[in-house]
Amino acid sequence: MANHIIIFLSLLVFTCSFALAFEPSPLQDFCIADSTSSARVNGVVCKDPKLAQANDFFFSGLHLPGNTSNLLGSKVTPVNVAQLPGLNTLGISMVRIDYAPWGLNSPHTHPRATEILTVLEGTLYVGFVTSNPENRLISKVVQKGDVFVFPIGLIHFQRNVGYGNAIAIAALSSQNPGVITIANAVFGSNPSIPSDVLTKAFQVDKSIVDTLQTKF
Ligand SMILES: *[C@@H]1O[C@H](CO)[C@@H](O)[C@H](O)[C@H]1NC(C)=O
Repeated sequence: MANHIIIFLSLLVFTCSFALAFEPSPLQDFCIADSTSSARVNGVVCKDPKLAQANDFFFSGLHLPGNTSNLLGSKVTPVNVAQLPGLNTLGISMVRIDYAPWGLNSPHTHPRATEILTVLEGTLYVGFVTSNPENRLISKVVQKGDVFVFPIGLIHFQRNVGYGNAIAIAALSSQNPGVITIANAVFGSNPSIPSDVLTKAFQVDKSIVDTLQTKF
């Protein structure tokens, strides 16, 4: 009897965590985001499905290189529910990432999505770090045609280690994956995290924290 209860509770915990950790299944064919609605829901409210048009499910522009003339030498072009309203409730989106030679898509995490990336051009050094206490770096050099996956929530990055430009396409398991860039979130928050918090957290002098805060 006790065994049955344990099995039942385990199943219950499993199904609940499953339901909470991933975006819910659609309850209709589609729910095109109605950006004009002021209603606040988890996601975006649907426009009248009778008004659906092909363009609601369409985006053009991923053939265009992103402008990598910035300090990192990389540019992410997103295609999520903000750019493609038909993605609402579908739990999926994509990005194009351009990298100048030695360009970096700096360490960041997507709070709501696993990411699967494929290299279209060039060579990338990619990696992610497992959670505490191991904090193991799992990394690899990937080339044109290779595929690498970054598990949901984990901090990851890509660096162009080839001689020319690099291009990647990635799919993400959320209509709105979100991005937390570690450097910007920790040293560039608004308002700032108090420097005594950061000096202790990073075990460095205040001058170093001040320098980092001015950069982000
Ligand atoms: C790329 O971005 C840089 C820096 O913002 C800007 O000066 C330059 O004009 C941009 N190039 C193109 C082609 O848009």
